[in-house]
Amino acid sequence: MRSQQRPVLDVTDLSHAFERDDGERTAVFDRLEFSVAAGEIVSIVGRSGAGKSTLFNLVSGLLKPQSGRISIAPHADGSAGRIAYMLQKDLLLPWRSVLQNALLGVELFRKVTREDVDRARSMLSKYGLHTVADAYPHALSGGMRQRVALTRTLLVDPNVVLLDEPFSALDYETRLALEDDVMSLRDSTGTSVVLVTHDIEEAIAMSDRVILLGGRPARIEDSIDIELSVHGPRTAVSARESAEFRTYHSRIWDGLRSTSIYHAGAPA
Ligand SMILES: Nc1ncnc2c1ncn2[C@@H]1O[C@H](COP(=O)(O)OP(=O)(O)OP(=O)(O)O)[C@@H](O)[C@H]1O
Ligand SMILES: [Mg+2]
Repeated sequence: MRSQQRPVLDVTDLSHAFERDDGERTAVFDRLEFSVAAGEIVSIVGRSGAGKSTLFNLVSGLLKPQSGRISIAPHADGSAGRIAYMLQKDLLLPWRSVLQNALLGVELFRKVTREDVDRARSMLSKYGLHTVADAYPHALSGGMRQRVALTRTLLVDPNVVLLDEPFSALDYETRLALEDDVMSLRDSTGTSVVLVTHDIEEAIAMSDRVILLGGRPARIEDSIDIELSVHGPRTAVSARESAEFRTYHSRIWDGLRSTSIYHAGAPA
């Protein structure tokens, strides 16, 4: 059913290389193709250095690809589609309050309105942060900081959200709670989510599809549709209890072990 929809994010023929100090060029991507459907949650897994963050930097426009096309479908009302990107580090600005940090993404696009402030406050409150809205980031725990960064990412009404290892610094319980938050965001708004994670369990629990990125230049080594039979609604916990979970886990683990980020003969 998903494949019949027009993709929300479409990446075609994406090529990019970095130049090393000695002038040698390393192709990170060579004509990579992939797309994400409306409301789909896709996880990208791959070894350290595989090119996951670089892919997000290219898709979000932070880096200009040497060639290729990245297109984002417009919103249902015809307005331009928007990508929101939560970087690998939370990057909260220490001199701005939690509320001001949450509004930073909106501020980069346009003047902040009273309605934006109200939305920010209510989203912070949904994440249990209403009591610290006027505090500064240094007063927050790691989990709270990630929630502020997530609020900032979501406030811009994106139709695609890129999350680069958003939960890696968090304790298990907080992590599961935030996984649920992202899944319910998708359910309530239809936002598509692309998630980079080193945690195979997280990738399986949250995703409709898991992509394994490997090789140099990086390619999609495997693309796995995740279908889990759960009792009741699919949540971070019920997904992990499903009968199929271990099978997917082994397939992804084996895939990761067999990928190399270097081709034979390339410098390690
Ligand atoms: N600005 C840069 N200049 C030169 N090389 C770079 C630059 N950014 C990334 N690279 C190289 O590109 C490759 C991919 O890096 P990237 O950060 O995308 O990997 P990653 O998959 O996100 O890794 P990790 O899981 O550790 O975050 C690495 O070999 C890295 O050294
Ligand atoms: Mg990275």
